[in-house]
Amino acid sequence: MISFVQTLSDLLWDALQRAFPDASLPNACLEITLSTQPHFGHYQCNSAMRFSKALGCSPRTIAETWLKALPANTFIAKVDIAGPGFINIWVQADAVTAQLTMMASRERLCLPQALAERIVIDFSSPNIAKQMHVGHLRSTIIGDCLARIFEYLGFDVLRLNHIGDWGTAFGMLIAYLKQHQPDVLSGQQHTDLSHLVNWYRASKKSFDEDADFKQIAQQEVVALQRGERDSLHAWQIICAISKENYQEIYDLLDIRVTDRGESFYNPLLAATVNDLTAKGLVSISDGAKCIFLEGFSNRDGEPLPLMIQKSDGGYNYASTDMAALKHRVEVEHATRILYLTDSGQAQHFAMIFKAADLAGYLKQEGITVRLDHVPFGLVLGPDGKKFKTRSGETEALIDLIQAAIVEADRLLQERGLDLSAEALHHTAHVLGINAIKYADLSNNRIHDYVFSYERMLRFDGNTAAFLMYAYVRIQSLKRRTKVNPSIYLNTPLELLQPAELELGLHLLRFEEILRQISHDLLPNRLCEYLFNLAEKFNAFFRDCRVEGVSEQNARLHLCDITARILKTGMELLGLKVIEKM
Ligand code: ARG
Repeated sequence: MISFVQTLSDLLWDALQRAFPDASLPNACLEITLSTQPHFGHYQCNSAMRFSKALGCSPRTIAETWLKALPANTFIAKVDIAGPGFINIWVQADAVTAQLTMMASRERLCLPQALAERIVIDFSSPNIAKQMHVGHLRSTIIGDCLARIFEYLGFDVLRLNHIGDWGTAFGMLIAYLKQHQPDVLSGQQHTDLSHLVNWYRASKKSFDEDADFKQIAQQEVVALQRGERDSLHAWQIICAISKENYQEIYDLLDIRVTDRGESFYNPLLAATVNDLTAKGLVSISDGAKCIFLEGFSNRDGEPLPLMIQKSDGGYNYASTDMAALKHRVEVEHATRILYLTDSGQAQHFAMIFKAADLAGYLKQEGITVRLDHVPFGLVLGPDGKKFKTRSGETEALIDLIQAAIVEADRLLQERGLDLSAEALHHTAHVLGINAIKYADLSNNRIHDYVFSYERMLRFDGNTAAFLMYAYVRIQSLKRRTKVNPSIYLNTPLELLQPAELELGLHLLRFEEILRQISHDLLPNRLCEYLFNLAEKFNAFFRDCRVEGVSEQNARLHLCDITARILKTGMELLGLKVIEKM
């Protein structure tokens, strides 16, 4: 569907060319925005200002000549010039009704992608033998939301969990477990991640203090890299214990992601380094293999290299990312790759992307692969400092999520809802998790945000509960009227009152918002859209009676489309809806 704004823009552009046939205009893009106030119409076009120089007359004269050339059409009801040359546009209710009816007739509300682009989304990606921290939580929530939006738009999405499951640190841990926890390695004793984290710390201590242990640990790394059976087995046990913990979080948050950790690329590392070397990109610096890239320097202004092989021959984070990128393009045929990590890794990815470009990894069969680092800010505690779970870093993320559920339960009980104990717990569970996700997604991801149960669980303002409640309200209204859905769904829409037309226009923007997110990767746009939708619905409900009036069924139809978009939108954010509350 061509968006409403696009149609308006096409109409106005035609008129402009007709009004000034001989002029060469700066560029074909008109600025058409939603009006900020009802008396400025539905849309506003401020481009007359921009053309003033090129056309050699005042913006007001331009606007007048321009609008005279606007042909009669079925989209625009009225235009008006305000101030020095702002054009205010009122659209025709019939045109909105027609587009809305067409949109509602489609199961998916949006048109599918013409070309099923393959997009890899690298998100979540915790590190084995370490707790997932709030940064991974952000990556998980934002990455999942983007994946849902791309899937909905018809892209072919591959969700990858680039788990940190390889590296020299595993030598220490395996050596330590062999010495102190043999039953864990033999599978006789079950354990969990919190124990593993402690053993990891202890192994690090021994490594730093005990030369004999250090040597054993180093031998263990070599054994692991050679793929010796018992080392490999120990490593698998360590990974399994860690993943059990991550899975618990994914289940709770309803996250789907395919594990493809760093170890997956291990067999490809040597070939990748050779390939980069053969392409003349690699220099040796202090014995290490490095790529020097223009435009990257350290604080002292010295060139900053991307190290792809250490002087001892070992590989690192960057080697793996180079190999992974190559694999994703050549084997997975990705045409776009998103990487979700905190902004702290921006430079790492900028260097990886540049190196990949120089190596020619981004040109595939005439297509240029698009790479996006999708950075996000920190989660802050109430003190404005980097968020730490209550008992410091060891407190598991799962407790943080559970605490939101407990708090939601308390708040719902306080509100004295007419729900069975079971329904109340279910609602609290959904609300707690929705609140955590929404608090994260509704902020522009680039910014830091303050984690507050109190704020995220509010029922008013731009919160999950506000949206959930708006949806419940529509559903109960539909039930209350006892009209069979097949009746109101077959009743033609009518957008008679201003509040109805406002709501209708807003509903039409759904696809435009999703497409915009597919470019700028900002899920907060969808939150804001849904928040405004709920507000516009409330205004409609305040101004237009639904039950027992002659417009009842047409209005129920409008309510139904609103509920559909609210539900779809919330699901794209990874939230769950509740039918009664
Ligand atoms: N494991 C890394 C971390 O915790 C994130 C990995 C992101 N993805 C990537 N391809 N480097 O910081």
